[in-house]
Amino acid sequence: MVRTVFWRGEYLEVLDQSRLPHEEKWIKLRSYQEVVKIIRDMKIRGAPLIGVVAAFGVVLASKQYEGNRLEELRKTVLRAVEELKNTRPTGRNLFWSLDRVLRSADDSESIEEYRERLEDTAVRIMEEDVECNRRIGEYGIEIVNEEEVILTHCNTGLGTVDYGTALGVIRTAWRRGLDIEVIATETRPKLQGARLTAWELKKEGIPFRLITDSMVGYVMKEGLVDKVIVGADRILLNGDVANKIGTLTIAIVAQRYGVPFYVAAPVSTIDPKSSEIPIEFRDEIEVLECMGVRTAPEGCRALNPAFDVTDNSLITGIITDRGIAYPPYLESLQKILREC
Ligand code: MRU
Repeated sequence: MVRTVFWRGEYLEVLDQSRLPHEEKWIKLRSYQEVVKIIRDMKIRGAPLIGVVAAFGVVLASKQYEGNRLEELRKTVLRAVEELKNTRPTGRNLFWSLDRVLRSADDSESIEEYRERLEDTAVRIMEEDVECNRRIGEYGIEIVNEEEVILTHCNTGLGTVDYGTALGVIRTAWRRGLDIEVIATETRPKLQGARLTAWELKKEGIPFRLITDSMVGYVMKEGLVDKVIVGADRILLNGDVANKIGTLTIAIVAQRYGVPFYVAAPVSTIDPKSSEIPIEFRDEIEVLECMGVRTAPEGCRALNPAFDVTDNSLITGIITDRGIAYPPYLESLQKILREC
């Protein structure tokens, strides 16, 4: 298992995921502007990890302020928060985490206290992520059976501080001795499955095969998959789930062939207020090339939505750190949130 982020007191150290699996490079972040850039460039990624790293962006912004007026510091930090919010719109954890960090320092009476509270909360969010994912694994193991083949999409291990959401469930099942296998989709255009999930599964010693995204129909129809477990970027109260582009297709095919489809995510991914999910559109170049090599003819245009929304009717259950929610989600998710 790999830890993706360390707070070193004066700076943040993160694993550069854009270089994996070929190179393990660590990057030191000393300003919130560097945090904004690293999130936007997807050198760190995955909804929970984005939330954690952004929280430290706020801490860094507060340390960058050189004046001695609390109100001015608050305004400086708020401007940084706006920039951090504008990095990636779909994942809910980013907004949840920024709001939580800010709120925790609301009634501070001095600059020192303000900074200290921001830092304490950011550290707490980071450590809670580890706990949450372990709990997701504990709840999730309930739905995993001996000798199952589990299909997963994108990457849900390095998208957290360490243990993983969907990958956390798979990891727990494997560590408890269940003889499972994984099918990982490569996840075009950024290849999080081929580059990251395959790397993590290999490290953990879990047997797996990689498939291209277009092989999902084949493996389901042939009965090669027993269960799907994916992560989430945002979950609405009605149970609709935004996750990496391609998740919707997997869910539709899974329903067609009677394969249970589960989502695993911490409660902080549940959005209790919105009824719609903003979908991030990324640069066309990510589709027109693959790992920096142009694959499409010059002059070609592309569409590049980074996420899609899977309808609640396609989802068998949502595994959270507070238990598994089953349909009707409006009731089960609300109950989970009430008990938090
Ligand atoms: O664009 P990414 O790589 O940030 O998208 C990641 C996903 O869609 C993950 O499935 C999700 O964030 C959960 S990561 C624990």
